[in-house]
Amino acid sequence: MIELKNVNKIYNVNGNIINACKNINLKIEKNDIYGIMGLSGAGKSTLLRTLNLLETPTSGSIIVNGEDITLFGKEKLREYRKKTGMIFQHFNLLESRDVRGNIAFALEVAGWKNKKDINKRVDELLSLVELEDKGDFYPVQLSGGQKQRVGIARALANSPDILLSDEATSALDPKTTKSILDLLRNIQKQLGLTIILITHQMEVIKAACNKAAILEKGEVIEDGSVEEIFSNPKSSIAKEFVSHMVHEEVEEIDYIKREGKKIIKVSYLGEKSKRPFISYLIKEFHIDISIISGSIDKLTSTNVGHLILELDGEESMQNKSIEWLIKNNLGVEVIFNG
Ligand SMILES: Nc1ncnc2c1ncn2[C@@H]1O[C@H](COP(=O)(O)OP(=O)(O)O)[C@@H](O)[C@H]1O
Ligand SMILES: [Mg+2]
Repeated sequence: MIELKNVNKIYNVNGNIINACKNINLKIEKNDIYGIMGLSGAGKSTLLRTLNLLETPTSGSIIVNGEDITLFGKEKLREYRKKTGMIFQHFNLLESRDVRGNIAFALEVAGWKNKKDINKRVDELLSLVELEDKGDFYPVQLSGGQKQRVGIARALANSPDILLSDEATSALDPKTTKSILDLLRNIQKQLGLTIILITHQMEVIKAACNKAAILEKGEVIEDGSVEEIFSNPKSSIAKEFVSHMVHEEVEEIDYIKREGKKIIKVSYLGEKSKRPFISYLIKEFHIDISIISGSIDKLTSTNVGHLILELDGEESMQNKSIEWLIKNNLGVEVIFNG
């Protein structure tokens, strides 16, 4: 549905060249909740803003439903923007208008005139974001989560196909974050939206997205299904984000390293977690296995489990065990070779 081809964005600030987006190639399909993750300054906001042409790419094309939006004239761009809603970290509400007024604003801008029609649409949107009882509240009277619900209602006012979210939960506490992400997932399903959300938090990707890309210094360094990224992260930044090792585990691993034993990390998806592969390896290959740590990531579609194991016993049998794990589609990373 959306394809970015070799998108570059270069800023020139007093002769300083900043390459905020470098040769970005991404494919986003209808109904995706596509996460774009990266540290601060990675180019996430810039990339997102090219998708509604708040930023014009310096080069490259952005194909949406078969048309290159960078070639749109004024009128087509206006129509396209109506169908592309956006929500923000700091909500961007009008303080002088109540909740109804904030939502109605999006309709007025789009040319709605009839009061009755506007009221009816505002009612629908209020119920969509579960704020039926807050219509005459002003932004200062709302919690962060409620403000973001208003932001979402406003973004959806003109029935967009695409919703862009720029760190929409970054100013919220974990519990409110979860409720907003749940809401986004629900409205995605209900309205058949395509959502692109950027975040610096892996937790958000985990809780909301089916696909994701990781951005570093303006470049996509990894992309794929969220399951893939969590079960088999390739880039060091993804590994770092996905790693669950806490201080004690790192110490434990350092200790084992001194003893010279092999340490591996095994990752497995959903159903495979039910297969008793550890006892199988012990029986089949006659090695000893100690579990150093284990954790499970709950993703939207499945779970990804991670186990850090210490292997002991005959070297060739240890290697055979690792081969067996790989053959059986478990992710294996040798953390220390012993
Ligand atoms: N309007 C602008 N003018 C000049 N430089 C900018 C502008 N917007 C962003 N940048 C630069 O582009 C880089 C990426 O910024 P941004 O997209 O905001 O990153 P992120 O959202 O991942 O934190 C940064 O180095 C930033 O300073
Ligand atoms: Mg940003």
